Amino acid sequence: MQEQLEQLAENARRELEAIDSATDMESWRVRYLGRKSDLTGILRGLAGLPMEERKAIGARANEIKSVLGEHFARKTEALKQEASRASLRVDDTLLARGDVTLPGRPVPTGRLHPLTQTLNEVCDIFVAMGFDMVEGPEAEWDYYNFEALNIPAEHPSRDDMSTFWVDSPASDRGWKPLLRTHTTSVSARIAEEMEPPIRTIQMGKVYRYEASDATHGTMFYQLDGLAVDRGITMADLKGTLYEFSRRYFGEDRRVRFRCDFFPFVEPGVEMAIECAVCHGKGCRFCRNEGWLEILGAGMTHPRVLERGSIDPDVYTSFAFGMGLERLPMLRYGIDDIRLFYNNDLRFLRQF
Ligand code: DAH
Repeated sequence: MQEQLEQLAENARRELEAIDSATDMESWRVRYLGRKSDLTGILRGLAGLPMEERKAIGARANEIKSVLGEHFARKTEALKQEASRASLRVDDTLLARGDVTLPGRPVPTGRLHPLTQTLNEVCDIFVAMGFDMVEGPEAEWDYYNFEALNIPAEHPSRDDMSTFWVDSPASDRGWKPLLRTHTTSVSARIAEEMEPPIRTIQMGKVYRYEASDATHGTMFYQLDGLAVDRGITMADLKGTLYEFSRRYFGEDRRVRFRCDFFPFVEPGVEMAIECAVCHGKGCRFCRNEGWLEILGAGMTHPRVLERGSIDPDVYTSFAFGMGLERLPMLRYGIDDIRLFYNNDLRFLRQF
């Protein structure tokens, strides 16, 4: 009986080791641990054995039963793990082919530079009000940058405009080349080339030979506007600029006009908008002014019109000019113009 038991245990262990499927596991369990198994038979038959034998065989049979039970449980677990590893392998191949159920990976997209966005937005506003866009040269004759705009050679306002002169020959009319210091030079060309009625905006890069700091750069963007027609008045100028401010800065930003001087307009004004931070009370952002200047404007000087062969007795005109960087700076509270040109993505990604 003892031998029969050991043989049974040995067979059971060997068979269990060779099993690799769940169905084989179940038949093994029935055969070796089931109700009708030899082991159960032996345990049941114990009662008929003499006392000594009953003890020894009973103890050994119970031991074998529990060891086989443990083996069975361990093998079942091992098979289960192998099965899940196998199913993972299936997923791996799916992945390699491209698993359509996975969330998509974001494709990095570019965006427009904040100044390009401003340019587009401001253009849209003026185009919607009936202005056409006009371009002019960045390398310009001093005539269009100064003389045609009523700024003669000896005029003190030329001192303000620290100019990059271009080292190339003068024109046959004696005009000298420079990098334009403002886009008002394009307005001078328009007055010469176009016939009234005129409504144009001209924008682009301008250059000043001066040290750059938080509010100045050697290169920056400007936008000028020009309207020439019969009966144009200061009211048209103010209405146009109010409307621009309303559309760009919002309905409730107040606008202020004050007298200013520019040689190419008479009268000349500066326009300021209420500080968004303190609403006119005065704070650090507006240097306690309560207002922030955004542009210069005025009624085009008769001499500028005459130079363009437009009769100032028939036509009147308004003009305005603004620095483009100032617009997003005032809208978002950006305090350093150089941020636009440093290509720091942490700044640029915010727009
Ligand atoms: N060109 C001037 C500047 O750069 C700005 C300006 C003022 C333009 C008045 C205008 C104007 O057209 O009417 O500071």
